[in-house]
Amino acid sequence: MKIAIIGTGYVGLVTGTCFAETGNEVICVDIDSAKVSRMQNGEIPIYEPGLKVLFDRNIEEGRLKFTTSLKEGIKDAEIIFLALPTPPGEDGSADLKYILGVAQDLGPILENYVVIVDKSTVPVGTAEKVRLAIQKNTTVQFDVVSNPEFLREGVAVDDFMKPERVVVGTTSERAKRVIENLYAPLVRQGNPVIFMDERSAEMTKYAANSFLAMKITFMNEIANLCEKVGANVDDIRKGIGTDSRIGKRFLFAGIGYGGSCFPKDVQALAKTADDYGYDFKTLKSIMAVNGVQKTKLIPILEDYFNGELEGKTIAVWGLAFKPYTDDIRDAPALENIRKLISAGANVTVYDPEAMENVKRIFPQITYCHTAYAALDEADALMIFTEWPQFRTPDFEKMSRLLKEKVIFDGRNLYELNLMREQGFNYFSIGRDS
Ligand code: UGA
Repeated sequence: MKIAIIGTGYVGLVTGTCFAETGNEVICVDIDSAKVSRMQNGEIPIYEPGLKVLFDRNIEEGRLKFTTSLKEGIKDAEIIFLALPTPPGEDGSADLKYILGVAQDLGPILENYVVIVDKSTVPVGTAEKVRLAIQKNTTVQFDVVSNPEFLREGVAVDDFMKPERVVVGTTSERAKRVIENLYAPLVRQGNPVIFMDERSAEMTKYAANSFLAMKITFMNEIANLCEKVGANVDDIRKGIGTDSRIGKRFLFAGIGYGGSCFPKDVQALAKTADDYGYDFKTLKSIMAVNGVQKTKLIPILEDYFNGELEGKTIAVWGLAFKPYTDDIRDAPALENIRKLISAGANVTVYDPEAMENVKRIFPQITYCHTAYAALDEADALMIFTEWPQFRTPDFEKMSRLLKEKVIFDGRNLYELNLMREQGFNYFSIGRDS
């Protein structure tokens, strides 16, 4: 099939590359001409494990192309994916200006029947708005379909190639057939393509992300209570996660969820609820709890140093909002570093992928080439991202480098017994009595 992808951000690029890999002819369109020419020269603009190999292969074999021209990009396309940003506006609702802008521009240049797919996370009712914006400027037949994506950064290629499910919102039989053909190679193991109406598909995406954010937040509150009653959240996780009704995943307590999706989507769904006059109390609690959770180690650190962080050197391991990404959007590390700086601490950091992105925000802190270099002469270590290389470090080396053997771990990386044996003062989430 001939496919156009409008927007080459994270979602657009993964979608375009993976559909090229399943044999389609894909053209990606972006208004950023510098980015387009970099991609035309084979340079991939994001870090995502496994994507570069597919990107290179499909460019080389001529199935993946890039252009800045919408008209050229959609010529003869049977499917057009809209993978455009929907940043939160001031009131928390998703801003649709990019999507509706492209929809306006599409009308006059459509030539044949085409299926237009909303891939971005968009509020309920957006497919209808897109349809109207296109319809104003054309007499050509088209369908607008909602097809939310469920990719996780870091494992996006696998999620795309082997989806647990594909959700498609459309009531058009013609569009249904096109989408079924497109996804057929990806759902061969029998995972379902679930068809529903557009509004339900749009709502499904928000419900999925909000539910997962709730699951994490619930565990974070259980962890907070564990600290008070002297229980261990790791055991609680195992104890409840083995119940298949609850499930093992997304039960890891820590310093809150971050990233470009959960915070934005929970907020946008709460805003939708408000707009429709529904007081969605669960969502409001999730946001409030997560806001506090992110920096919950700071008062513990302050207590440890008797309120005196001025002039102390705090080493930080991990900046990205989660491992295997350089993405720092809404990463808990940022708020923690901000607080450390304003308390007068010196901060030395290490992250395997995300340091370049953080340099722009905090030019005044020290960036180190290795995790150990960040510890040299530091008064304490704080851990914000669970990169695998932090899981089994050389504790003796750490002891030699740190001025004080104290760790504040926002990701529960180490066993309490091990920390005791190694002689560390160790503060983690939901495990200290
Ligand atoms: C999330 C969803 O998992 C995807 O299905 C969805 O497609 C995507 O948002 C999106 O809307 O685009 P992502 O933001 O890449 O994916 O990251 P996750 O792996 O879901 O992690 C989100 C946050 O939850 C991270 O900050 C992570 O540290 C935190 N988390 C996750 C926990 O604190 N505990 C857990 O047990 C799991």
